[in-house]
Amino acid sequence: MVTLNVNGREVDVEADDDTPLLWVLRDELGLTGTKFGCGIAQCGACTVHVDGTARRSCVTPISAVAGAEVVTIEALAEQDHPLIRAWQAEQVPQCGYCQSGQIMQAADLLARIPDPGRDDIRNAMTGNICRCGTYTRISRAIERAAREG
Ligand code: FES
Ligand code: FES
Repeated sequence: MVTLNVNGREVDVEADDDTPLLWVLRDELGLTGTKFGCGIAQCGACTVHVDGTARRSCVTPISAVAGAEVVTIEALAEQDHPLIRAWQAEQVPQCGYCQSGQIMQAADLLARIPDPGRDDIRNAMTGNICRCGTYTRISRAIERAAREG
């Protein structure tokens, strides 16, 4: 058993130590906003925060995050985070599948660099793939959140 702190709540999880965090979030805790894309840390759909830093939950065993603070897209939505508002204002999503990972990655960026330039945004977001090609709107939404945050 591993005890996790997810979105401010302590939860005891009955799963093997090497179970990927992604599956515990989705299947055990019902936090289905975090998506499975590739399973090999190549797309960013599964991005969450661990102690404030973006992490690919598909390749993060739960044993590695015991005692850490895990935050998912559900917490940002509940807080009405500036990125959530900016994403709505810029109408970013197309199919939507990659977008929670994109927002979590963007939140990591804004926490480190509150007023990012285009290069900062490109560098931070380069590992988050969008098959619908919403990159321009993602970039605009991050700039808006930085402005209006
Ligand atoms: S599902 Fe984790 S990076 Fe693609
Ligand atoms: S909005 Fe469809 S994959 Fe990004």
